[in-house]
Amino acid sequence: MKKAVSLELDRHLNPEQIAAVTHGEGPQLVLAGAGSGKTRVITYRIYWLIEELGVDPSRIAAMTFTNKAAAEMRERVEDLLGLHPLPTSVGTFHRYGLILLRRYGERVGLRRDFHILDTADQIGLVKEALAAEGLSETAFSPRTVLSAISWAKNRLLDPAAYESQAQGFFEKKVSGLYRKYQGLLGQASGVDFDDLISLSVKLLSQEGDVRERVRFRTQFLLVDEYQDTNHAQFRLVEALAGESGNLTAVGDEDQSIYSWRGAEVSNILEFEKSFPGATIHKLERNYRSTQTILDVSGALIANNIHRRGKRLWTESGAGQKVELYRATDEGDEAVWVVKTLQRLRHSYKLGDMAVLVRT
Ligand SMILES: Nc1ncnc2c1ncn2[C@@H]1O[C@H](COP(=O)(O)OP(=O)(O)OP(=O)(O)O)[C@@H](O)[C@H]1O
Ligand SMILES: [Mg+2]
Repeated sequence: MKKAVSLELDRHLNPEQIAAVTHGEGPQLVLAGAGSGKTRVITYRIYWLIEELGVDPSRIAAMTFTNKAAAEMRERVEDLLGLHPLPTSVGTFHRYGLILLRRYGERVGLRRDFHILDTADQIGLVKEALAAEGLSETAFSPRTVLSAISWAKNRLLDPAAYESQAQGFFEKKVSGLYRKYQGLLGQASGVDFDDLISLSVKLLSQEGDVRERVRFRTQFLLVDEYQDTNHAQFRLVEALAGESGNLTAVGDEDQSIYSWRGAEVSNILEFEKSFPGATIHKLERNYRSTQTILDVSGALIANNIHRRGKRLWTESGAGQKVELYRATDEGDEAVWVVKTLQRLRHSYKLGDMAVLVRT
């Protein structure tokens, strides 16, 4: 007779998903398209690790990009296991960093009671730095300066490292501002959001005993939306998992839309270089769209560079044709949208329709 756990997997997962969920030790990348059940794989893997392999729930950590996604994942696993509250760490990268720094922050020069700056506080510090350097806020927009500093931190460049690679007038000025900003941050015993990651990486690479302890607490590490990780987050994952660690990363290189926020699709493209011997699982069955929609989007995405490639399929049938309307201007576009909604209204609820625009 089949055991309860494997029956549960059979009932809710397809064979490719089961292969990823029941992957043993060592690194694996689950490469999958939109709506193919990537997040479901993470959830069931946590369940499987605890229920089937007997892994201590407090030695598993899962990282997501939003608090909402983390809360949903936690709830799902709690329900599957009937375990409330779940002692597993399920949260955002920033939250993980915060917990680490609250515990060991003194090792990287933080005070025990450090506080986290919000964007308004950060802008305030940049303005102070500008004043101290005798630069005007009109020539150097505080927001632009702040993005440059954030970019540097996401690349793990401290002021000295940023300075030595700075090119051109703007970057040279920013390197002075960055140094000043860090000084002010220290005086206020504050950290910004980016520091939560970069200081955690510093802590783990510098303090061997902390790294060992934290790695022990992170016997299994799972990361959702891996295509959105930036360099600092990648280094955190690497520090936690090590080259041959029990890392499960799931992601879709075709959904990498955050390069402006520092996301590096190379993290997914070069996964096997970072984690030699990694197993690659692909999920190509989609549960959200009709085959027609998958084929149309697939044909568009095929033009992207930097991809590993996959072909999504579904059992939900061909569905209706995709319609392309080339509007002459904005007014024409609006009229067409309204007419289309009115036509669809006879058969569907307005609440089940969505209009997407670019900006
Ligand atoms: N094996 C399955 N059987 C039935 N439904 C499934 C299966 N796997 C996933 N689904 C459903 O497909 C939808 C997409 O799943 P999920 O959110 O896990 O996908 P995803 O790949 O993480 O999507 P995204 O690319 O948006 O992050 C959900 O509604 C989920 O319940
Ligand atoms: Mg998902």
